[in-house]
Amino acid sequence: MTAGTLHIVGLGPGGVEHRTPAAARAVAEAEAVVGYASYVDACADLLHDRQRIVRGRMGEEDARADEALVLACEGARVALVSSGDAGVHGMAARTLARAAELDEHERPEIVVVPGVSAAQAAAAVAGAPLTDDFAVLSLSDLAMPWSRVEHRLRALAGSGLALALYNPRSSRRTEGLHRAVAILRAARPGATPVVLAHDVTRAGELVERTTLAGLDAERVTMRTVVLVAGDTAVDAGPWLVALRGAVPA
Ligand SMILES: C[S@@+](CC[C@H](N)C(=O)[O-])C[C@H]1O[C@@H](n2cnc3c(N)ncnc32)[C@H](O)[C@@H]1O
Repeated sequence: MTAGTLHIVGLGPGGVEHRTPAAARAVAEAEAVVGYASYVDACADLLHDRQRIVRGRMGEEDARADEALVLACEGARVALVSSGDAGVHGMAARTLARAAELDEHERPEIVVVPGVSAAQAAAAVAGAPLTDDFAVLSLSDLAMPWSRVEHRLRALAGSGLALALYNPRSSRRTEGLHRAVAILRAARPGATPVVLAHDVTRAGELVERTTLAGLDAERVTMRTVVLVAGDTAVDAGPWLVALRGAVPA
């Protein structure tokens, strides 16, 4: 093992108060901070001028993982930053997979620092819609063909599980969400509660309640996580809650 260390850090959903002390320490004590530019910006308050800062672009995730590993192999203390939890549609898996290819004696110490994921932060604003069983899906077809995304969604649509949909729609990927909503509408009642949570814990946070029938895909962006209630969800005053004992209608 080399003297370097690599912390793969989940920064949380955006708000500094939702970033863990362990994540903050890993970034502040790093000699090099590597990440997609807007995630580096999200921890700007922790950066200082003695650090090497590597700001990456969308679609260059493997290059970022490699750069972080190379710097750590050279002996640096490195923080590779992700939003939310690095293990939930973040940088952890691809980075560990690439690290596993290194000779064991050349591999730096690697620590995955967990963070608050967008679905958890969104659920907390809406109430407790993910308290019963739930599944997390990404609707992105960048790293997986859409046919596989759709296969998973169809399997889950009839399951009654609450769903958290990440990467639901971008300016380029607009069709997938329409197809996903059509699949869900065919399998679940139109009155199924849906939460559109935009920029949770960030400036401009907006959390909207709608239903599967009323869901307007145009309201959804890459900064939205979509929560589709499961079959044990009920309204409790202003909150949407999933009560495991609730009987499906
Ligand atoms: C590449 S994934 C990163 C997920 C992240 N690792 C996590 O655990 O939250 C990006 C997607 O996460 C969701 N997301 C991340 N942060 C969010 C936030 N603060 N508010 C709403 N959605 C968010 C959006 O669906 C976005 O398209």
